[in-house]
Amino acid sequence: MMQISIVGGGYVGLVTGACFAHLGHYITIIDIDADKVHLINNGQSPIYEIGLEQLIKQHIGSELRASTKFDSIASAEVIFICVGTPQTPNNNIDLSFIKSACSSIGMSLTNNISECCVIIKSTVLPGTTENIIRPEILTSTKKSENEINFIVNPEFLREGKAIEDFMHPDRIIIGNNESYSKYFINELYEKIPAPIIYTDIPTAEMIKYTSNAFLATKISFANEIGNICKHLHINAYDVMKGVGLDHRIGSQFLNAGIGFGGSCFYKDLSALILLAQKNNENPILLQSIIDINTRQPHKLIALLENKIGDVSDKYITLLGLAFKNDTDDIRESRAIPIIRELLQKKAHLAVYDPMAMTNMRQIFPDIKYCNNAIDALTNADGCLVLTEWTEFSKLDTEFDVMKHKVIIAGRKILTCKGVEGICW
Ligand code: UDX
Repeated sequence: MMQISIVGGGYVGLVTGACFAHLGHYITIIDIDADKVHLINNGQSPIYEIGLEQLIKQHIGSELRASTKFDSIASAEVIFICVGTPQTPNNNIDLSFIKSACSSIGMSLTNNISECCVIIKSTVLPGTTENIIRPEILTSTKKSENEINFIVNPEFLREGKAIEDFMHPDRIIIGNNESYSKYFINELYEKIPAPIIYTDIPTAEMIKYTSNAFLATKISFANEIGNICKHLHINAYDVMKGVGLDHRIGSQFLNAGIGFGGSCFYKDLSALILLAQKNNENPILLQSIIDINTRQPHKLIALLENKIGDVSDKYITLLGLAFKNDTDDIRESRAIPIIRELLQKKAHLAVYDPMAMTNMRQIFPDIKYCNNAIDALTNADGCLVLTEWTEFSKLDTEFDVMKHKVIIAGRKILTCKGVEGICW
């Protein structure tokens, strides 16, 4: 079992730490946020993720601990970098968290007596590990290049299913195909039954971007086909059922709707487009994936206007604010452009989401947040369904409280009659 320090106690670091602790390794999560560290050490999860708090409770104080200090790095065999790489205004990735993590790691590594390994889980563009991370660490440590091994090991965790994805991944990607890297990786992942692909560092970095770009491509493709199906009165879901059974295509990520949100797809696509342009490429396919995604929310509102006319002064209910179900995350949620457009058109909004209202209130403090779907629906002129929460699937007579029963679904979750879907 290994001594592991994880720098960054955000979504990726925390899930990685809790899961490795569950596999029997000894984990210290290092985060500069003292409140977060305090919560973790008290057995609480600072974020909502199914099963995470239970794992923290089970292992805190034994295999798992959290700290604001970098002391544990001096005795760590493996150091994971799991800090965020947010989007800059010009679509690049912001490496400031990476750089400050590297300098703290470098300084603390000076006292580390064993051969150790730095594993990068943060999403970074090809070339970042070799050109930025490795030199940043090496300039702030007194250790030589041969004493620190650098490995890129991207994460593919879906929010809401992160623990399941960690424990049962489709594959483990390892950037660094030297023999010593195999020793560390085998020790770390020996209890996880998944194929391990060893490759070089830039290739591993590129695999992460390419995976996300391809998943986003499937969604925008499904939406493009769905928009055509809508005109032809064909249900896009029935079409994709037939299409997805072709094993060359696969049935996942073909659900048409209001498009993708979340912290990864838009950010990673934008950074990939920029990287392509810097290399004198014109990535028209990647750009159109974003364009289709930007268009879908307008289409939903156009459908509503088609039914109820001008939305100005009308009462509109939004069911769902999170970028997808089973999370309180609203980053890049399609609800955001929809709220913005409806407010700009002077509609009155009443919204409900089981988990994400606190987060959305930070962006839109002045819309009406309701405690349940019925409160949000009462006297409404129209309703838009924006997140596929399971609890919405049971809604039926609840819609009777609306003034005009016009229900337009941007996600396919309702099972009651009288619903118009964006692509079905
Ligand atoms: C994604 C990747 O799946 C994960 O591998 C990566 O590491 C991080 O980004 P996540 O953002 O948690 O994970 O969500 P995901 O389940 O991929 O969904 C992203 C968005 O696409 C959601 O808004 C979802 O509603 C939407 N989506 C997904 C569709 O519109 N249609 C689909 O068929 C699938």
